[in-house]
Amino acid sequence: MGKGHFGLIGLGVMGENLVLNAERNGFSSVVYNRTAQKTDDFLAGLGAGKQISAAYSLQEFVDKLEKPRRILMMIKAGQPIDDTIASIAPYLEEGDLLIDGGNSLFKDTERRVAELESMSFGYIGMGVSGGAKGALEGPSMMPGGTRQAYDAIESLVSKMAAQVEDGPCVTYIGPGGSGHFVKTVHNGIEYGVEQILAEAYDLMKRGAGLNGSQMADVLGQWNSTEELSSYLVEITEVCLRTKDPEDGGDLVEKIVDVAGQKGTGLWTVISALELGVAVPTIYESVNARVLSSLHGERQKAETVLHGPGATALELGSPIDGMAPLQDACVLSCIASYAQGIALIEEASRVYNYELNIAAIAQIWKGGCIIRARLLKRIQEAYNNNSELANLMLDPWFAEQIQRRLPGLRQTVIEATRAGIPVPCFAASLSYIDSYRTARLPQNLVQAMRDCFGSHTYKRLDKGGDFHTEWLP
Ligand code: 6PG
Repeated sequence: MGKGHFGLIGLGVMGENLVLNAERNGFSSVVYNRTAQKTDDFLAGLGAGKQISAAYSLQEFVDKLEKPRRILMMIKAGQPIDDTIASIAPYLEEGDLLIDGGNSLFKDTERRVAELESMSFGYIGMGVSGGAKGALEGPSMMPGGTRQAYDAIESLVSKMAAQVEDGPCVTYIGPGGSGHFVKTVHNGIEYGVEQILAEAYDLMKRGAGLNGSQMADVLGQWNSTEELSSYLVEITEVCLRTKDPEDGGDLVEKIVDVAGQKGTGLWTVISALELGVAVPTIYESVNARVLSSLHGERQKAETVLHGPGATALELGSPIDGMAPLQDACVLSCIASYAQGIALIEEASRVYNYELNIAAIAQIWKGGCIIRARLLKRIQEAYNNNSELANLMLDPWFAEQIQRRLPGLRQTVIEATRAGIPVPCFAASLSYIDSYRTARLPQNLVQAMRDCFGSHTYKRLDKGGDFHTEWLP
């Protein structure tokens, strides 16, 4: 094998699968891993008989690659990225390109792009979504950095990415850390949809008494509709249908109810707070994971703090797909997407990223964890009107909200009546209700602020800032 077209650092599951993907698409590859044993194992196993060679030092790795070098790092985010950059930089030459394919904090990527570009290297922060299977078969990729750096990897990533009817699921996202920012928000939406489906499960189980197979059948029905057909609904059906081989019971019931998180949901919320964008559905999905972690406390609290108890809830029948619950899922997913998109748009404005929502929706249609048929509608909405103030104002989405709002409302009422927590459904309902309310009660908040702190207020009937001596 001559010089490799592509280099990979980090042979974790994602790294292994991405290099197999690149090789399958005609890019001979060189791999390097911090521990040599891992490299040997890979080349003796999945990498055997392929146009993939090993390097055991960074110098050897760089030497084995054709110029300009295209090197993908699939390693832990944070300090390991900076350490790897510092170790490899002495061997790189002008025009060589490093790509960080992990879930890095976008502000770190922003800094690294500036640093590496000032050294005449290219640097791309690329969100990669799709899990292990996506990495192998075709992920969705969100690369950010300079246009020139992207042009140098376009032929590679456009072949590696998932393909949908209107092209590969990769596009130039924008400058600096924009690729990792968009991936972070993708994950925020992912958290939202996961929690929405978990709430639907809880209501079907505790509020309607369905078992795993019955719930899976409902999910199967939902997955055949345009509004809910998606990867996450598909895998939820699979999870609910899976039995524990030990006793044949529903496996999901054996799993500890504590959800972990690696940070991207949190970062989405932090960014939203910093940028002043409301993302209540996504925020509640993070809160739900945090509350779930109080496992011991919850066991105790259940014996002390009593609720109404679940009764037979009016959520429709499984035969008709639990219609109100289905409405709740559709609108809460729409709310999740609407909030994520609003956040991306504000970041684009504040950080000058010039992000294109229709193009982002296009690359989320395949390969990634939040892929869904709904994304075609989102793409169309922003193709029709790139200035759309909020996804919910697009005619197709507005009609969905009009039609399904009673179902979402009923779901929240029923859940509240039974004392079953539905943080994402309730947050989505309030988000929609707030957004469609011309006069909110924040006039009173302004009055209070002026009363205790002389913060002033504006009037509806005349211009200027006003202050009143409210207290005697
Ligand atoms: C993807 C996923 C992935 C993420 C996991 C775990 O798009 O392929 O978003 O990047 O790391 O889903 O995320 P949490 O552990 O934070 O749930």
